Formats: sequence, C-alpha cells, structure tokens
Amino acid sequence: MTHKWWQNAVIYQIYPQSFQDSNHDGIGDLHGIIKRLPYLQKLGVDVLWLNPIYDSPLKDNGYDIADYEKILPDYGSMTDFNELLKAIHAHGMKLLMDLVVNHTSDQHRWFQESKQSKDNQYADYYIWRDPVDGHEPNNWGAAFGGSAWTYVEERGQYYLHLFAPGQPDLNWENPAVRESVWEIMRFWLDKGVDGFRMDVINLISKPVGLPDAPEPANYAIVEPLVADGPKLNDYLKEMNEEVLSHYDVMTVGEMPSSKPEDAIAYTGLDSHELNMVFQFEHVQLSANPDPQLGKWDDTPVKVPELKQALSPWQTALDGKGWNSLYWNNHDQPRAVSRFATDNPKYRVLAAKMLGTTLHMMQGTPFVYEGEELGMPNVHYTRLDQYEDLESINAYHELVDENHLVDGPTMLSYLSARSRDNARTPMPWDTSTNAGFSDVKPWFALNPDYPEINAAAAVNDQSSVFYHYQKLIQLRHDSDLIKFGTYEELDPKYAQVFAYRRHYQGKTLLVISNFTDQNVVRDYDQDHASKLLLSNYPDDEGTVLRPYESKVYVFD
Ligand code: GLC
Ligand code: CA
Repeated sequence: MTHKWWQNAVIYQIYPQSFQDSNHDGIGDLHGIIKRLPYLQKLGVDVLWLNPIYDSPLKDNGYDIADYEKILPDYGSMTDFNELLKAIHAHGMKLLMDLVVNHTSDQHRWFQESKQSKDNQYADYYIWRDPVDGHEPNNWGAAFGGSAWTYVEERGQYYLHLFAPGQPDLNWENPAVRESVWEIMRFWLDKGVDGFRMDVINLISKPVGLPDAPEPANYAIVEPLVADGPKLNDYLKEMNEEVLSHYDVMTVGEMPSSKPEDAIAYTGLDSHELNMVFQFEHVQLSANPDPQLGKWDDTPVKVPELKQALSPWQTALDGKGWNSLYWNNHDQPRAVSRFATDNPKYRVLAAKMLGTTLHMMQGTPFVYEGEELGMPNVHYTRLDQYEDLESINAYHELVDENHLVDGPTMLSYLSARSRDNARTPMPWDTSTNAGFSDVKPWFALNPDYPEINAAAAVNDQSSVFYHYQKLIQLRHDSDLIKFGTYEELDPKYAQVFAYRRHYQGKTLLVISNFTDQNVVRDYDQDHASKLLLSNYPDDEGTVLRPYESKVYVFD
C-alpha cells in the first residue's frame, strides 16, 4: 500500500466563531485565523478543519446553511477566504471545509421554493410526506427535541428534519440533489481546498418506508435506525467517482452509530468512498439506563468500557481502512473533564495522559482548539448561561415538559455533557477578554483564562502545549506510530489503559494510569530499550503514579 499524505497528518479543528476576533465585534473571523497561523505552525499541525463558515441564520451555529457559496458576513468575505486559504498554504498547512449536506437551512433558496408547491423545480429536493390520520408521518423524534416532522400549509405536507425545524433533510434519492451537491464540492475544490469533513454523512440514505422507531422514539433511538442506510455506499461511490477522485484531497465522514464493519466498507482502500470516519462509540458511552434521557448523563467514564469502545476499531481497520482519532470536538464536552479529571492538582498531567493515549494509536489524530492547553469544562450552574439549542431544548423537554429529571440534576448533566463547554472563546493571554477580542465576546470566556491560556502555555516548557507538540513530532518521525499493528493489553483492568504497537520487528508500549492513585502494573516495561515519552520527569518502572502516561520502545 502506498502511503497517503493524510496518514502522516495531525489535524487541528477551529471553531471559527470562538477562535479569534479581528474587527472588534466580539465574533471570531477569518482574519483572526490568519493572525494565529504562526501559533498553529509552532504546534506542528498539518491540516486545519474549520466548522461551517457559510452564510447561515445560525440556528445551529452554522450547521444550517443558507448559501453554500457565500461566506457568513460575520466571518468575512470571499476575498478574505481566498486570502486565508493562501496564507494557510503559505504556512505549509492544508485546509478542510465542513460539508453539511444531510440538510440545509430552511432559509436556503431550494427550501424556500420547495415549500411553495408540489410542482416547482425544487419540489422534490426535500423529504415531504402527506399526513397520516391527520398526524406526523411517523413517530421519529428530532435531535434537538420535538418531532422530526414539521407541517407546511402551502403544500399540506410535512417535511423531515432529523435536527431542528430550521434544518430540513435533503432528498438524496433525487439525482438532481446529488448533482447540486457535487457542484458545491467542485466549487470549493476548484478554489484549492484540501478536503472535507462531512457532517452526519451516514444519515443521508433513509430507511425504506421510513418505519416507526421503537418507543420512546427520541433521537437517540431513531439515529441507529436511520444511520448507514441502504443506498449510502452507492451515494458515496458516486460522490467519489463524480468529484473526489479528480482531486488529491482527504475526507472524513461524521458517522454516528456506525460500527467497525461499516467503516471498513466506507474507508477501505478498494471501496472508493471516504478516507476515514468519525466514529462515536467512545463519546456515546453512558451509564444512564433510562432511554428517555437519551445522551444526558454525568457519570464518569469507566476505563474498561473506554477500551472496549476504542480497541476494536484499532484492530478491525488495521490494513483494511483508516481510523480518525479524537477525544472531543465542538459537539462534546472538554476531553480532560470527560475522560480524566479537571481537578487543578492533576489537570495538566491528565491532559497529557489523554493526548498520549490517543496519539500513539493508529489513525489520523484530531486536536480540538484549546485541547492543546488542557482546557476544562466551563462548569455553568444556570440555564441562562447556555447558548446551544440542543442544551436549552433538552432542559425544557426533560425538566419542564416531561418531568423526567429535576432541574439541578439536568444542570449537572449539562455541566458534564453540554456542547457549550467546548464553544467558549479561545483564551490567548491574560489581557482583556483573554486576547480573543477587545470587545465583549459573543459567548462568555471560561473564567479560568487568567491561568489557562495560550501565552502561558507557550512560555512554559512543561505545558500541555509542548507535550502535544512532541506527540505530533513523534508521529511525523515514526512509521511505528503511524502504521504499527495494535495489540490490546489488560482489557478488563479498571485503572490502566495499555497497548502495544508492532511494526517491522519493533514494538511500542503505551501505558496510561487513568486514576489519581499509585498503581503497580507490570507490562515488561523494565526491559524496554528506551523510554520515548512520559508526563513525569523520571521513571519508576512498574509503579504508575497518578495520571502517569509513558511510551516505551523495544528494538
Ligand atoms: C453534526 C454537527 C453538529 C450539528 C449536527 C447537525 O453532528 O457536528 O454540530 O448540530 O451535525 O448538523
Ligand atoms: Ca469579528
């Protein structure tokens, strides 16, 4: 197999709204990103992925696109975009755009026309159904609460939206829809962008007949029913043939509910579909037994379950497909709070430990803005501190309407899991508004910014930032890290996450203590040829100190 550039890459995700403001309106923008390219270059990342920057009414922070070929004025103009792309390339990096084509905004001109009548050019661009006995066509619940169907008088029909009512699902069965999507993709690729992250792309092919879901048909129950539908492979192959195969680009498909067997089909070298997928097993771990609560929970992750969620992907895709590696993104709480601890005593150790555990695996690592600083959750205590519609709607639905949990419990769930934990502005330094903006930011800063910020990290050789810089450098320099085969160790052991990697007679041993206790565990580390990396200044062999994480090489 010839190696591809993206197998050597580490990707950095930018949430544009919260990265850097450059024109004094409190909203991050494209010129702000240009200003921070030297910082990203210092970190050593190869590719930047931007969350959607297209024109949008921002009902779901840009995942509701009104015009795919126009930049949101808050972020800049197309001229600014061209400048940004040029600057990214001049800094030796590449750019991935977010492609959101399971749905559009209801403000998109296709939908505006589609809803007028049953016989216009765009009538069949969305999924319209007649009422059944005066009701919704099926029982599906939408991701942001309520029914997945909304009625439109003009047509006397319902349209499907798996997400908010302002995000109608496109009808991929219609060849004209697919052709329109290919055109959007060519528009950006012809500008020179280097690939796409594809939003919920495994939801585009709906199950035949749109059958009812088992009750309670909330989104958590509906999603596996809709995911990986019957024509998905056909659509992705067509996309590849029509568009992707004509460019040297990389693609990663966001695929909630997918299993390794699905991902092998999508990312297999002979399947001609995508390069990698974002799987969800580790971020969807939940101890909450009540299906009515969907994703809402606040119990800490159990290490054996985490291993069970990640290791099968490592072994199943080896030599057959390719993994993406991520702990968090704009839809998840902060990694250090979710998977380890944000107790100030251990936060830095824990953030480095998580970085090591993930970056030594096989696949392409993604770093979400602020992760390289070990940013913790923001720990809001009141509902009015949230901006995200998912969090706010969930509170109203579960607490006020259905009385499934009490307010304080739900606030605790939000504090543990809300997407807003990841969306606070990037803390750059200790100046006013953390150097993010010189006016009040669109969303409050994490109050710990005087301590946790990029300038402090860059000035401290023992910071999480330099640990990530090292992880990235090690990957670039080592075929063992990039391509080694994964061997799971100790799957049931609750304190330590350990594994080996094997490549051309060499072995890598990775050991991470996920607890705040000393643990003694022997993986033959005393016989290693060398210690490659650690988050402690010295080595105590089989004694693993709190959140200690070590990487050894055996020649
Ligand atoms: C994806 C996005 C998320 C968005 C949803 C609907 O999961 O990452 O932010 O709300 O799709 O587009
Ligand atoms: Ca701005």
